[in-house]
Formats: sequence, structure tokens, C-alpha cells
Amino acid sequence: MNHTKLTASVALTVLAALGVACGGGGGGAGADGGQVAEGHKQFKATCAVCHGPNGEGMPKLGKDLNNNEFTQNLSDDELVAFLKKGRPATDPLNERGVDMPPMGGNPTLTDADFAQIVAYVRTLQ
Ligand code: HEC
Repeated sequence: MNHTKLTASVALTVLAALGVACGGGGGGAGADGGQVAEGHKQFKATCAVCHGPNGEGMPKLGKDLNNNEFTQNLSDDELVAFLKKGRPATDPLNERGVDMPPMGGNPTLTDADFAQIVAYVRTLQ
């Protein structure tokens, strides 16, 4: 009996400790750093084939996103809208003659994913 009680109370203590650990931390600069790191992962998974692993661009494919005026001139919302729409080769603004595919070619990306990707792209511009 006593043993069972002790085990239960240890379990509760552990749960309480976990609760505190999860509830605390997060937010602020830490969360932003996480956004950027996650965004870079997403970028490497979806965008890097054309834009390079660090957004440096690839010959005849995606443009260099470092010091990029186009992204500098867009708000976060506008940049997400651009990424969702892409820029087809037929668009008069397209210089490479290659599609920037809608959703970066990855239709599974969510708004949360795009927020992370944009947070990463902002570190390049
Ligand atoms: C299949 C190749 C491909 C993939 C994948 C791709 N892009 Fe692109 N992207 C391009 C091409 C090609 C252009 C340039 C089109 C042009 O010449 O105007 C471009 C243009 C852009 C531009 C505009 C740059 C400028 O200076 O006009 C941004 C921003 C961009 N891509 C971001 C992304 C992001 C972020 C992803 C991943 C979510 C992504 N792209 C995935 C091919 C790709």
C-alpha cells in the first residue's frame, strides 16, 4: 500500500516538473531563433534545389535571395502571397525563363511553414 502511494506521488512530482518545464521558457527571442532554424530546415527541404542551401541561388534556376531587393520591398504578408503564387516563366517579370513554382513546388506547406520560411529569408536579405 505504502509503496503504491509513494510511486503515485513520485509520478505526480515528475508530471508537475514536466509541466513547469513545458510552461516555462519559450517566447521572446528564443522563439524567433527557433522560427529561423525551422525555416532554414524547410528552406533546405523545399527551396534549396533551386535557390541553394543558403539562398545563394543556382545558375539558371532560383535567384540569389541574399541582399535581395525584391524581398526587401515586400511585407511578410506580401512575401507569403508571392511564394504561394510563384512567378511562371510566362510572367513578364520573369527573367530566368524558368518557373518559380506556386508554393515553392511543395503544396503541403502550411501558413505556419511559410511564416518560418519567411523568418529565414529575412535573415538573408
Ligand atoms: C523549381 C525551382 C524553384 C523552387 C523549388 C523555388 N523557387 Fe523561388 N524562384 C525560382 C526561379 C526560377 C525564380 C526566378 C524567376 C525569375 O527569373 O523571375 C524564383 C524566384 C524567387 C523569388 C523572387 C526573387 C527575385 O529577386 O525576384 C523568391 C523570393 C523565391 N523565389 C523564393 C523561394 C522560396 C522561399 C522557395 C521555397 C518555398 C522557392 N523560391 C522555391 C525557382 C524556384
